[in-house]
Amino acid sequence: MTKVSIVGAGAVGTAIAYAAQIRGVCRQLSLYDLNADKVRAEVLDLNHGMQFTPMAEITGSNDLAVCADADIIVITAGAKQDPGQTRLDLAAANVAMCRDLVPALVALAPDALLLVVTNPVDVVTMAAQEFSGLPANRAFGSGTVLDSSRLRFLIAEHTHVAVQNVHAYIAGEHGDSEVPLWSTATIGGVPVTDWRSSGASPLDADARAAIHQRVVSAAYEIIAGKGATSLAIGLAVSRILEAVLNDEHRVLPVTSRLDGVHGLADVCLSMPSVVGRAGVESVLATPLSAEELQQLSASADAVRTTARSLGL
Ligand code: 2OP
Repeated sequence: MTKVSIVGAGAVGTAIAYAAQIRGVCRQLSLYDLNADKVRAEVLDLNHGMQFTPMAEITGSNDLAVCADADIIVITAGAKQDPGQTRLDLAAANVAMCRDLVPALVALAPDALLLVVTNPVDVVTMAAQEFSGLPANRAFGSGTVLDSSRLRFLIAEHTHVAVQNVHAYIAGEHGDSEVPLWSTATIGGVPVTDWRSSGASPLDADARAAIHQRVVSAAYEIIAGKGATSLAIGLAVSRILEAVLNDEHRVLPVTSRLDGVHGLADVCLSMPSVVGRAGVESVLATPLSAEELQQLSASADAVRTTARSLGL
């Protein structure tokens, strides 16, 4: 019986639960939230759709014990971005939240993997890994899985090719300094920089810069319009959960503490990584152009500066 527990039944936590239920990711799903009425209502709402989804036992509580013996715990709780705030602005509040929360979760579910979604996800993942005492492969974060999906969508839209046939990653911070890895991006095996078609303009430097900018501003745009992003992160995290629980060894750009790849260490950042039942099985040394390497180092500095200011 695979069990997923989600900490935080806000917009993101419930979207993850909903996506996981529809995709049949696990047999047991539990939600924890401080707000008993809210978590009860969300669990009722999810359960009332059970006739139309794969079977799962969905429970919820304002008692953290609902996470006991989970295989994987998804942390979504914490302060959320208001219009005008960056993700890094949330660091102090959300790292502080992890200080008590994470050890309590590990005590309840000592074998669980921790999957951090709370922003700024790279810094909060560093905190979760440190406060849990877990090895780097077992405490990781959703990172730039969503940003990469946004990038692939925009490339697909530009070139009129199915998003499934676009392979491209955003690496680095899940935030303003994130780095599109254009030098390894392909469409049906064709490097994006070589892509030509009669129906679409080439992905030249200007087009690539515009797409990068749209990926960086995507969350701000959605927060301005509906207060929070939720549906796509729900699907992205559900996909990570499947990779773990089905031991798929899938390449996903999750964030984890790096151990020297491209000279980067002691910081959590996203790089394409192999994800399976052990968590982050390996971080790939994806080839980078000189410009990408320089941008990735700057991104690491941005995350490290915030982390160090909080004693991480
Ligand atoms: C997102 O990128 C806000 O981090 C959240 O949708």
